[in-house]
Amino acid sequence: MLIGIQLTARKSVSQPWRWTEDASSSVRIAPEPTMIGSELRTDLRDAERGQRSDFTAMATPSRASGESKRGLPWLEWARGWYSICAEFLFQRIMASHLENPLPLPPLNGVTFIVTGCTSGIGLETARQLAMAGAHLVMAVRNTNLAHELIRKWQAEGIPLDVEVMEIDLMSLKSVVRFAKAWNARLQPVHVLINNAGIFSIGEPQRFSEDGYETHIQVNHLAAALLSLLLIPSLIRGSPSRIVNVNSVMHNVGFVEADGMNLVSGKRKFTSLRGYCDSKLAQIKFSSILFKRLPAEAGIHVVCLSPGIVRTNVARDLSSSLRTGYHWIPYFILDPEEGCRSSLFAGTDPQIVEYSELLKMEEWPVCPYISHDCRPANASDESHNLETSKKIWEKTLELVGLPADALEKLVAGEEVSCQYDEIDE
Ligand SMILES: NC(=O)c1ccc[n+]([C@@H]2O[C@H](COP(=O)([O-])OP(=O)(O)OC[C@H]3O[C@@H](n4cnc5c(N)ncnc54)[C@H](OP(=O)(O)O)[C@@H]3O)[C@@H](O)[C@H]2O)c1
Repeated sequence: MLIGIQLTARKSVSQPWRWTEDASSSVRIAPEPTMIGSELRTDLRDAERGQRSDFTAMATPSRASGESKRGLPWLEWARGWYSICAEFLFQRIMASHLENPLPLPPLNGVTFIVTGCTSGIGLETARQLAMAGAHLVMAVRNTNLAHELIRKWQAEGIPLDVEVMEIDLMSLKSVVRFAKAWNARLQPVHVLINNAGIFSIGEPQRFSEDGYETHIQVNHLAAALLSLLLIPSLIRGSPSRIVNVNSVMHNVGFVEADGMNLVSGKRKFTSLRGYCDSKLAQIKFSSILFKRLPAEAGIHVVCLSPGIVRTNVARDLSSSLRTGYHWIPYFILDPEEGCRSSLFAGTDPQIVEYSELLKMEEWPVCPYISHDCRPANASDESHNLETSKKIWEKTLELVGLPADALEKLVAGEEVSCQYDEIDE
């Protein structure tokens, strides 16, 4: 039985990861066991009180219903909106125990790939990682802007270990190109942060060059393909992490393997639906990835909510709504506050322990970290293992990978992808 567990984000800097060199001199991550013991506390009293760190009380056991639905049952939908409203109204209070900026350990020699870091949460995540000494790979589509940012950060006088690589998540060929270029270096990746995302509020339905609805392509499919193709480098950096910047909005998402493109007419497209469904698809896919990755691979998969954050994500709002969005600062976090859960999920040693615990307990969902850097329970719908498996299979098909791609990649075998330009 899974017991209530509480991750503790720090008011003061916890001890850094121990970055040690192994015999082959590749960088290794080893959490301090004593620190884990003191900070990662099982807390049955919380469970009895039904507090949010209580997984037994909050979670629905793995659901495996054969019923085909057209959307969320109304009670789950209402609960989803309740979670969104609660996050909006109380996120600042709930995260009041966190320092801002979140203190980071020295990260010299640790390689982070962060997608979409020319704006908003990704930009601030990247800046703080770079300032902490990390080897940062900015995976962006606007490389000129990324170079400009580096020049600006360097003006602060700190020597940085940052590089820029081009990726456009709207093109799966571009994702394959990026992964191939990185893997060819035979260097490790310690943390991949799938941060880039779009929410084209109020916009009509659009499709990528690959024929997929743009939210599902950028927010889920491209990130999934990138994560899988980088498995060899993540194994090289093991213990390593795949961190997915998800959203509380997944709580009102509903996704079916045959309806991911929202073209069947069964579920009519709205940008809100496109966004929420893509975030739920990401949790479902990540949960199966989390379950199927053998423990020996040493790759941990985490999804997180950054909170509701003032960024360019609202760029498609009408100008009056945009003004409103920028003028409610009390409720909305700034990017420095909004990147804390990404930094926590990407760097805190407790994540490894927590991930191992959930794996041992055969929990149906991957670790999900809330904006206040605590473990949270993803939506009931994300616990439906049957649909998660179907989303996994369909995702592999849509990104042009064979059904056994993960097993082959973990075994060090070559895997061909339909979007590899050489294979065309
Ligand atoms: N802000 C919030 O309240 C909130 C809440 C929950 C979750 N999130 C999630 O947080 C993540 C970051 O969003 P944000 O709020 O920081 O938004 P943002 O300011 O709009 O930043 C999004 C980043 O993603 C990049 N991006 C978009 N499409 C891309 C593509 N096709 N290829 C490569 N990069 C692409 C953007 O690059 P360009 O600059 O080139 O466009 C930008 O750097 C997203 O996954 C979002 O869903 C945000």
